[in-house]
Amino acid sequence: MSSPTVLGDGRIALVTGASRGIGALIARDVARTGGHVVLSARSAADLRAVTADLAAGGADVEFVPADLTEAGAAQALVADIEQRHGGIDLLVNNAGGDPLREFHAMSIEENLRTLALNLIAPVTLSHAALGGMLSRGRGHVVNISAMAGRVAFPYTEVYAAAKDGLIGFTRVLRNDYHARGVSASVIILGAVRGAGQGQRMLDEAGMKSSAYMAPADSVARAVVSAVRKDRPEVVVMPGPARLLRAVMDYFPGLGPAVNRASGASATMRTIIDLREPKIPPPTAGLASAGR
Ligand SMILES: NC(=O)c1ccc[n+]([C@@H]2O[C@H](COP(=O)([O-])OP(=O)(O)OC[C@H]3O[C@@H](n4cnc5c(N)ncnc54)[C@H](OP(=O)(O)O)[C@@H]3O)[C@@H](O)[C@H]2O)c1
Repeated sequence: MSSPTVLGDGRIALVTGASRGIGALIARDVARTGGHVVLSARSAADLRAVTADLAAGGADVEFVPADLTEAGAAQALVADIEQRHGGIDLLVNNAGGDPLREFHAMSIEENLRTLALNLIAPVTLSHAALGGMLSRGRGHVVNISAMAGRVAFPYTEVYAAAKDGLIGFTRVLRNDYHARGVSASVIILGAVRGAGQGQRMLDEAGMKSSAYMAPADSVARAVVSAVRKDRPEVVVMPGPARLLRAVMDYFPGLGPAVNRASGASATMRTIIDLREPKIPPPTAGLASAGR
């Protein structure tokens, strides 16, 4: 079944994390299908710039700033759009990211903020928008996930948990509401080049992008295509990505080897070393005790 009714004239889309990176490109491509697109993120200045740029190209867009890790912010964002536009037809949960620091070196509060942004916010936005979608008999939720958990990508413990959680959430949401006109798709990203946090990380370390990275434009195209074709899951990465995911599930121990072979482990270690203060070596007593 295709679900063309959530794209096009008279339809309302909300794209989170649209102030920069991949989200700005998703907002651009969704706007090109017609309809009205609301861009959200924390930075009003960045949102204003992206929105002005898209509007100059003829897009029907606006922005609403929101910090999705704040209590009540997701519900307030949905309520505001529903009140002014009558509902949300397409929700793209793109806002997300990882601090790229070691799990133990961050406080539990910092770790839980990663969970709040990457999992709790998409769940809360979906919950808030679902009632209106069901009452109109149409809607589509697109969640932007990552390969991180499947390939044991280094230093992403909580991010990986959130992104894997998003895959399960999307599958069940789709199954439960599809017959009532509301669908869900998850877009599972490997590393992305050209825009977004992966590219910024490389720039920070003075490194070049690799053949294992997908262009950011292809993510935006995948989102629109997943909605048009009503795809349950789309993996965006060069090569036989879906096969790789299946193999990783069958042989989970392969992940670290793949990360080493692709250079991801070395790159991430460089980034961590740039960001973390050096941890002092253990004292002689501790080093010898119980080892
Ligand atoms: N780039 C990659 O290689 C890659 C790989 C796998 C998955 N992904 C996923 O793709 C999505 C987009 O990533 P990206 O690379 O484009 O990241 P990005 O450039 O860092 O953009 C993240 C977006 O989320 C917004 N955001 C961050 N914290 C927020 C908060 N508390 N409340 C509301 N908005 C917030 C940011 O805007 P403000 O700072 O203004 O709030 C920004 O618009 C994320 O879900 C990410 O996990 C990316």
